[in-house]
Amino acid sequence: MSAIPRILLGVNVDHCATVRQARYRAHALDHGDEVEPDCVEFALLCEQAGADGITMHLREDRRHVQDSDVQRARAEIKTRLNLEMACTQEMIDYALRLKPDSVCLVPESREEITTEGGLDVVGQKSRVGEVVAAMTEAGIITSLFIDPDPAQIEMSAELKSPWVELHTGAYANAYYHEGRARELDTLRKGAELAHRLGIVVNAGHGINYSNISEVITLPHLHELNIGHAIISRALFVGIEQAVREMKAFLA
Ligand code: PXP
Repeated sequence: MSAIPRILLGVNVDHCATVRQARYRAHALDHGDEVEPDCVEFALLCEQAGADGITMHLREDRRHVQDSDVQRARAEIKTRLNLEMACTQEMIDYALRLKPDSVCLVPESREEITTEGGLDVVGQKSRVGEVVAAMTEAGIITSLFIDPDPAQIEMSAELKSPWVELHTGAYANAYYHEGRARELDTLRKGAELAHRLGIVVNAGHGINYSNISEVITLPHLHELNIGHAIISRALFVGIEQAVREMKAFLA
């Protein structure tokens, strides 16, 4: 009898750093833990509450997570560190030095509040292919954050990316509107195609305590990466309870 594998929970702790930066933007965070809130201590609490992995996005403009946070996270977290990053040479070199367990390649624009669209793997084929090859060679898993678009999924397979993270933002935005069933169906077909092509399927962006019941009906899900909803819930109930409540959906 084979047990159905449970879906893993990756917690994105960027917004803990966002709160710190709102007050201490000008402060040199050489040690990382000298001002509150400390996003690494926060990540450790997420792990204690059952998170299967921790995600940090080191953005080019360092608007929330700082280099010292990522370095301390690498040393201190006990589950898996997933480094979200743009496909720039600076970040590629950084990841090869840091050696996170995985990298998730995302598009990055300075104007956006959070990552808006999926990575254009088709349009940046050779660049993304080089990054996947370099990470694989270094023993780091690559995940490509892409829209559930067949062309993007097929190119991810062609470039031998072991994982993709399907962008659930369009579905989350449509949740209270007419397009919800259509967006869910697009995600379902995307997950099926990626699985058929031998890619591990993760998903993330805009997943919350309401839509998760429907998100987990998607086939072949390995891990969900969730940030905003968990951090927001933590303001009311504390981070450990917020993680436990989300985990309960995945049991
Ligand atoms: N996955 C990726 C690739 C992201 O860029 C983000 C947002 O930082 C998330 C997941 C988490 O999205 P949310 O904060 O909406 O849960």
